Amino acid sequence: MGRVYTIVNMVLRYWLTRPHGILHLKSKIENYMTTTQFNQPRAVTPHGILVELLQSTLQLAQSSNTSAEVLTSLQHIYKLAAGLEPYIGEYTTNESEALTALAQKTSTEDWSKRFSDGETVRQLEQEMLSGHVEGQTLKMFVYLTKAKRVLEVGMFTGYSALAMAEALPDDGKLVACEVDAYVASFAQACFQNSPHGNKISVEVAPALETLRKLAQNGESFDLIFIDADKKEYIEYFHTILDSSLLAPGGLICVDNTLMQGQVYLPNEQRSVNGKAITEFNQVVANDSRVEQVILPLRDGVTLIRRI
Ligand SMILES: C[S@@+](CC[C@H](N)C(=O)[O-])C[C@H]1O[C@@H](n2cnc3c(N)ncnc32)[C@H](O)[C@@H]1O
Repeated sequence: MGRVYTIVNMVLRYWLTRPHGILHLKSKIENYMTTTQFNQPRAVTPHGILVELLQSTLQLAQSSNTSAEVLTSLQHIYKLAAGLEPYIGEYTTNESEALTALAQKTSTEDWSKRFSDGETVRQLEQEMLSGHVEGQTLKMFVYLTKAKRVLEVGMFTGYSALAMAEALPDDGKLVACEVDAYVASFAQACFQNSPHGNKISVEVAPALETLRKLAQNGESFDLIFIDADKKEYIEYFHTILDSSLLAPGGLICVDNTLMQGQVYLPNEQRSVNGKAITEFNQVVANDSRVEQVILPLRDGVTLIRRI
């Protein structure tokens, strides 16, 4: 069912956004059919959710007595929205083979079974993986900041860790915090397939414990990527700023700071994580030690620097 949905979606998007791209579409579908057995991830970003809502609104309008003018307008809005992410993906530098393999392995894993069998400590899901465009963005930040030491808080199967490691110099180092031992060894197996994997060391423990240990040892990092437990974001942020974990001139990147749009939707529509991120954004905005910007990339990425 997921595969049918994906193909219908591909056809619709290509048909609606690039009328002359039929050959390209054919090869994309063939490639998809022959190389993949993965489940289609659900929409987990404000933009992805918006496109899904627009698609169902358009279908509703087509099957009801809607005026031609409204239908044309809706079709235009849908094309504009649905074409954006595929376009960005297509014109962003391709990910490495090791990252493609890691993403495919993540999407074919039965995460619900791993959890029900007690192999993972919590329910993990393929949607946690940041992916191509965000990975390439993080990689770009590592290059731009000339970072030699990177800290990741929340690694999952290692996509963002490996993407950033690819941009580190040969003597660069990335420390990744991950609480789940199963997913940590899953990631480490993937790192072995990359020439950059040996730059990554994994700390399997609750992130706050690792952050405090690293701070006590006087370690510091040029770039810190926060992507673990949303309810702990404020504590990660304070632990980092109250210690010397962030090197002078260092950059903090924080994922999911738009939390599917919940941060600007009414409070009743916020999940526990939505409330946590809303509070986190307020804490950062009120902290006079830093300046920050929220990028509308995927589920929102905040860049923070100490003033
Ligand atoms: C959203 S995923 C990370 C995705 C990854 N950064 C990527 O881009 O592919 C969050 C990860 O944080 C881990 N995590 C959650 N709470 C944690 C904690 N308190 N300490 C360390 N890791 C934690 C989860 O097990 C999960 O693997």
